[in-house]
Amino acid sequence: MMNISQLLKEAESGFGAEGLPTPGLDAEVLLAFSIARERHFLYAHPAKEISGVEMERFRSLVAKRIKGKPVAYITGRKEFWSLNFEVTPDVLIPRPDTEILVEEILRLSGQEKEVKIRILEIGTGSGAISVALASELKNASITATDFSPNALAVAEKNAVNNKVGEKISFLCGDMFDPVEGKFDIIVSNPPYITEHEFELLAPEVREYEPRRALVAGPEGTEFHRKLVRDGERFLENGGRLVMEMGADQRFAIEKMLKEKDYCDIVFHRDYAGLMRVAIAKELKINNLYTW
Ligand SMILES: C[S@@+](CC[C@H](N)C(=O)[O-])C[C@H]1O[C@@H](n2cnc3c(N)ncnc32)[C@H](O)[C@@H]1O
Repeated sequence: MMNISQLLKEAESGFGAEGLPTPGLDAEVLLAFSIARERHFLYAHPAKEISGVEMERFRSLVAKRIKGKPVAYITGRKEFWSLNFEVTPDVLIPRPDTEILVEEILRLSGQEKEVKIRILEIGTGSGAISVALASELKNASITATDFSPNALAVAEKNAVNNKVGEKISFLCGDMFDPVEGKFDIIVSNPPYITEHEFELLAPEVREYEPRRALVAGPEGTEFHRKLVRDGERFLENGGRLVMEMGADQRFAIEKMLKEKDYCDIVFHRDYAGLMRVAIAKELKINNLYTW
């Protein structure tokens, strides 16, 4: 038998030797998962002995991590916006930087807004953005799409588990194909990596996360172009297009927005100071709808 503190040290030094970036955190998350407890239990009971079965379970998870499998795919969970999400290899693991899109949309819409806000998300993956927005906005009606039926099944489960299943309609199809109607906000974290950049990604991303959730094409902005071009048809006059983007894509995206009927174009940085979000207002002739 070994205790919690000893098992954590063993795993942390194994992960450290492999050069994994967050060895202590990974060890804690995997041990807490193996013994079906929250992480704070580990801090409160460092001398607690762990049974042979649980220890073997933990060591088999440690072995998977050492081979490079992301922690979220090992445990099947990831936290986003302080909510719990199920993740499978069919969905991208939601990233903390994507929370900025949620923050900006909440700021734009105003949480006490009386009017019902219609939000469309293109490429919902695990459902992270739509579920977070639905959990915050009392008066939102949200439509979330993805071209992967398996991803949509995960997103629907996450909506139900987070008690917002009623507020989100999930549609399967390519970009705007399954969508009808007008929206106040269109949000998307689209694939935005070039094929070349994909080859340079860390193996744990390249070998485990879905390629079609990440790679846009030779330029990286192919999906943004489609969102800008086709989004106009689905945005209410004065509505906003909110897109996650790569740090070096600002000028390409600004140019494509200016070539269409968009104004009030703003960019926001992520927590690391990198340009991460583009927001633009769709505006035809008269701005009849302002917020
Ligand atoms: C970068 S991931 C974002 C996932 C999730 N919204 C998030 O922020 O974690 C892009 C998503 O777009 C979906 N996708 C890729 N191409 C698509 C297409 N042509 N039409 C609809 N969805 C697409 C992928 O399946 C994936 O779920």
